[in-house]
Amino acid sequence: MTTLEGGPVPVVVQGLGLLGRTAVELCAGTPGVELVAVVTRRPEAAAGLPDGVVALADLGAAGRAFPGALVLSTVHALDEELADVLAEAARAGLDIVTSSGLFHPASQLGDCGAALDAVAREHAVRILASGVQPGFVLDVLPAAVLDLAPGWTAVDVVKPSDARSWPVSTRHMLGMGEAPEVVASSVPYPLAASAHLIARAVGRPVVELRESRVAETLDRELVLADESIPAGKAVGFTHECVAELEGGRRVRVCWQPTLAATDETDLSLRLEATGGAELTMRLDGSFRRDPYPATAARMLHTAVRGRSLPAGLHLAVTPGLAWGGQLASEDR
Ligand SMILES: NC(=O)c1ccc[n+]([C@@H]2O[C@H](COP(=O)([O-])OP(=O)(O)OC[C@H]3O[C@@H](n4cnc5c(N)ncnc54)[C@H](OP(=O)(O)O)[C@@H]3O)[C@@H](O)[C@H]2O)c1
Repeated sequence: MTTLEGGPVPVVVQGLGLLGRTAVELCAGTPGVELVAVVTRRPEAAAGLPDGVVALADLGAAGRAFPGALVLSTVHALDEELADVLAEAARAGLDIVTSSGLFHPASQLGDCGAALDAVAREHAVRILASGVQPGFVLDVLPAAVLDLAPGWTAVDVVKPSDARSWPVSTRHMLGMGEAPEVVASSVPYPLAASAHLIARAVGRPVVELRESRVAETLDRELVLADESIPAGKAVGFTHECVAELEGGRRVRVCWQPTLAATDETDLSLRLEATGGAELTMRLDGSFRRDPYPATAARMLHTAVRGRSLPAGLHLAVTPGLAWGGQLASEDR
């Protein structure tokens, strides 16, 4: 087994919600890492942790107890609030990966991420955002695959999701059950970050970007185990982001969650690149349930691989695939 130089990476999980609990379980089965602490708003109530794992109240305490550790941050924060969480970890001397936002800080922070990058460099740590979506299926994976289609001029990536596995609160937050015009009036989880990540990976700046949502409706009531949606209200949507890139290239990323899925519904990820070299890819592997274990694993793996990067603010497309930065004995 490949081990990391200097022993296992000490890992701290911040937030004990669904993703945080999943991350705690994941660490036990991952080579080269050791879960040492959790950071939670109520450390005294943190039950069921693996033996030896301590519960702490803030990232500063984690930095003092475990200098140089890596934080998997699963707290729900966005934009400037998230930037504050990431900076707090950096000041505590901790590498940090978040699943919540700032997947493309250059378009999401007022200063393009300059302050966050500076604080990471000052404290010699790395800051990253990583996950499944954003952070893999609609950005990192297509970006990697596009290497195989030199001369592509247009790429279309479509990911259906089975929204039946989502909590009712999440469905409603995303507009399920609402009138179609309500769904069309907002994009709660913008796909622009994914389009920017693809553009960054292929080295072509975004010239123009458009984003929209269109509701999926049925002409009958949809009866689910936990709610019913009247005819004509949204049971899903098509959310697309089209980015025109420099050099006349176009990227379209599209997310299609639906409550009208059945166990036979094709949920495969589809990618089509056209132009100089055509490439069509269909990833039949799909998530029937919300992919929390995949999100936690992607965060952890990206961050461990990111340990070989210089200090600073990095993108999810930056770390390579090697586990550890040094040549391992089996590589020689
Ligand atoms: N990119 C992806 O692929 C992906 C996939 C899944 C989820 N996510 C994101 O990951 C984050 C966590 O998801 P989740 O489903 O695990 O959420 P969750 O169950 O609501 O857990 C979030 C945790 O954050 C902590 N927290 C700290 N300050 C908080 C505050 N002021 N208000 C509420 N919670 C606070 C809480 O833990 P303590 O009480 O222990 O402090 C809470 O349990 C969300 O932002 C979600 O959007 C991303």
